[in-house]
Amino acid sequence: MSEITKSSLVNSIKNVKHPELNVNLITLNSIKKFNQKDGEIFLELSLTTKNSDDIKNAIIDQLKNDFKEIRKVDLNLQTKASSHITTHKDPRKDAILPGVKNTIAVASGKGGVGKSTVAVNLAVALALDGAMVGLVDADIYGPSIPIMLGANDRPKVYQAENSVKIIPLENYGIKFMSIGLLIDENAPIIWRGPMASGAIKQFLTDVDWGELDYLIFDLPPGTGDIQLTLVQTIPLTGAVIVTTPQEVSLIDARKALKMFERVNVPVLGVVENMSYFIAPDTGNKYDIFGSGGGQKISSELNTTLLGGIPIDQRIRQGGDNGEPMVYSTPDADESKIIMDISRKLTEQVNIRNTGSNDKIEIDLGDDN
Ligand SMILES: Nc1ncnc2c1ncn2[C@@H]1O[C@H](COP(=O)(O)OP(=O)(O)OP(=O)(O)O)[C@@H](O)[C@H]1O
Ligand SMILES: [Mg+2]
Repeated sequence: MSEITKSSLVNSIKNVKHPELNVNLITLNSIKKFNQKDGEIFLELSLTTKNSDDIKNAIIDQLKNDFKEIRKVDLNLQTKASSHITTHKDPRKDAILPGVKNTIAVASGKGGVGKSTVAVNLAVALALDGAMVGLVDADIYGPSIPIMLGANDRPKVYQAENSVKIIPLENYGIKFMSIGLLIDENAPIIWRGPMASGAIKQFLTDVDWGELDYLIFDLPPGTGDIQLTLVQTIPLTGAVIVTTPQEVSLIDARKALKMFERVNVPVLGVVENMSYFIAPDTGNKYDIFGSGGGQKISSELNTTLLGGIPIDQRIRQGGDNGEPMVYSTPDADESKIIMDISRKLTEQVNIRNTGSNDKIEIDLGDDN
C-alpha cells in the first residue's frame, strides 16, 4: 500500500473526539508515536479517559475508514496522568519557580467545602500516576495540609550560594510546605493578608522545590482581598474550583470563578465534593447536599465538571489521620473517582498549555 503521510494521519485523527471532553485528539496533542510497515500501523497515544475501549475503537474505525488499505492497527494507549505532561510557558512563573512546569490553585468561595481534602488527594493521585508534585498550603488562617499529610516537623534549611534555602517536607511522594510557618502564630488575623502576600514570592523562591510537574496551591476560602492578592502573586497555570452541590455553595463558587476571570487565570474545572452519600450498610444513595449543582455551575460558566466525590467516612478519617484515602485505599471506588479527576485535570492543563489546533507541533519522527 502507499505510505500514510503525517498530515493525512493528523487530518484523520482530528475527526476523533475525546469521549468526555468536547475536543478532538489533535487538540489534546495525544499522538506520541507513529510508524508503519507493510500496511500495518503502529500508533501510540497518551490521553486520560475512563472509556479507553470506546476511544480505541473510534480511532481504529476512523483510520480504517480513511485509509482503506490498512491491514492492522496496533494501538498503544497510555492513560496515566504522567504519560503526557506539558509546561506552562510564563516568564513570571519562570522567575519565581524555574523548575516547576505547572501551578494550579484549588479554591472555593465558601469555607469547609473540602478544598484541602481535594487538594491533598489530587496531589497524591498525580504522584501515584508518576508525576512530580508539590503542594503549598496557602491557607493563612489555619494550615491543615501538614496534618492531612501526616508530617508536621519544622522544615530543614541549608545555606545556598546567596541565600538560605528551605527543604520542603515530603510524604506519600509529594513535597509540601505551609505558609502558616511564615506567620507568627500570635499575629492578628488582620495582619495576615498583607504579611502573606508580601512574603509569598520570597517564600516560593526560598523553598528548594527542585523539578516539579505540578505545584498545587490550597487557597484560603473566600474571594476577598487576601485571595485576590494571592491569586495575583502566584503565577498560575489555572484554578480548580471546589463546591458542594447546594445553592449557597454554588453562589460562592460563582464568585470564585469571577475572581479568576478578572485576573485572567483560566479555570480548569469544577470539582463537586460531598456529591452524595452511599450508606455502607444498605447501599442506598442519599443526596445530602442536593444534586446536579456542579454540573449546573460548570455549564453556566462554561467550564468542565471534573467529577463528583461522594461523602465517605474514610475520606474524613484519611484527613484526620494524615493518610490520604487515595493512598491508603487505592482500590476503593472513591479513590478511583479521585484518580479520574486528577487525570481530567491534567488533560485540561494540557489543553491550556498547547492552545489551539494551529499551534500544535507533532513530532512523528521522519516525514513519510
Ligand atoms: N468527600 C468527603 N467525605 C467526607 N468528609 C469530607 C469530604 N470532604 C471533606 N471532608 C471533611 O470535611 C471537613 C472540611 O474539609 P476541608 O478541611 O478539606 O475543607 P476546606 O474547604 O479546606 O475548609 P477551609 O475552608 O476551612 O479551608 C474535613 O473534616 C474533611 O475531612
Ligand atoms: Mg482548607
